[in-house]
Amino acid sequence: HTYETILVEQKGAVTLITINRPQALNALNSQVLADLIDAFAAFEADETQGCAVLTGAGEKAFAAGADIKEMADKPASDFFNEDFFSKWTSHVVKTTRKPWIAAVNGFALGGGCELAMMADFIIASENAKFGQPEIKLGVAPGMGGSQRLTRAVGKAKAMDMCLTGRMMDAAEAERSGLVTRVVPLADLLTDALKTAETIAAMPPMAAKVNKEMVNAAYETTLDQGLLFERRAFQILTASDDKAEGMKAFIEKRPGVWKGK
Ligand code: HXC
Repeated sequence: HTYETILVEQKGAVTLITINRPQALNALNSQVLADLIDAFAAFEADETQGCAVLTGAGEKAFAAGADIKEMADKPASDFFNEDFFSKWTSHVVKTTRKPWIAAVNGFALGGGCELAMMADFIIASENAKFGQPEIKLGVAPGMGGSQRLTRAVGKAKAMDMCLTGRMMDAAEAERSGLVTRVVPLADLLTDALKTAETIAAMPPMAAKVNKEMVNAAYETTLDQGLLFERRAFQILTASDDKAEGMKAFIEKRPGVWKGK
């Protein structure tokens, strides 16, 4: 399947998705959204695929935001009636149960930063720059920036970022807990793909459950989250892969997973 605005490659059990509008710094227009929804659904449905990596084409940007040229003349009634941006949150994040990583290779601004934050985690290159500059356009984040950035880095920094529209470099992003680690740009894809391979080699049900558990921490009280964790753990103990995983450990050999 070929897409207009993204490239999709399968590397073993890992799907690499590249936003491919480098001339517009990979700005996110409605075609990118449609293509990503389709590619993530295909990734989710393909039993041979265990983890995905999302990155941007070129060395300059992951995505420099929602496409300003597409939004400039759009009337407010269209934004409202289309419930603009709702599909980003409902499709790409909520329906993908398999893990995916954002490999941020440059600017991740506005919608680009928000899209990266929808990933299960972010690996950044040394030249990465994060920001929510929407205020400078007379608007505000619309794809989760005010919520996910605040949960990721806390109120002080989220307020600072949203109110000044300034950019955060990769070192500050790592210090603040926005990204898991920073690597040289030349190593970014290798590192992200290797990490994704590690995840894709895990028992698939356990991978989905681990992801759900961590995400539950954002939606529940501590007691409800701990209960969810125990119940989900207990359900996994009924899987063939749990029996195999423990047996393989005792027999000092790698496990062979069935996804059951
Ligand atoms: C459309 C964009 C774009 C964007 C860059 N381009 N960002 N097009 N939407 N978000 C285009 C430029 O117009 C230009 O096209 C080309 O990409 C290269 O960009 P330059 O500005 O020439 O590059 P540079 O001088 O290096 O500056 C890089 C930059 C700057 C600092 C990242 O491009 C920038 O500030 N971009 C906008 C960042 C931003 O505000 N993002 C938030 C968007 S709003 P041409 O054709 O001139 O070569 C958002 C949600 C808003 O995400 C919600 C509203 C409802």
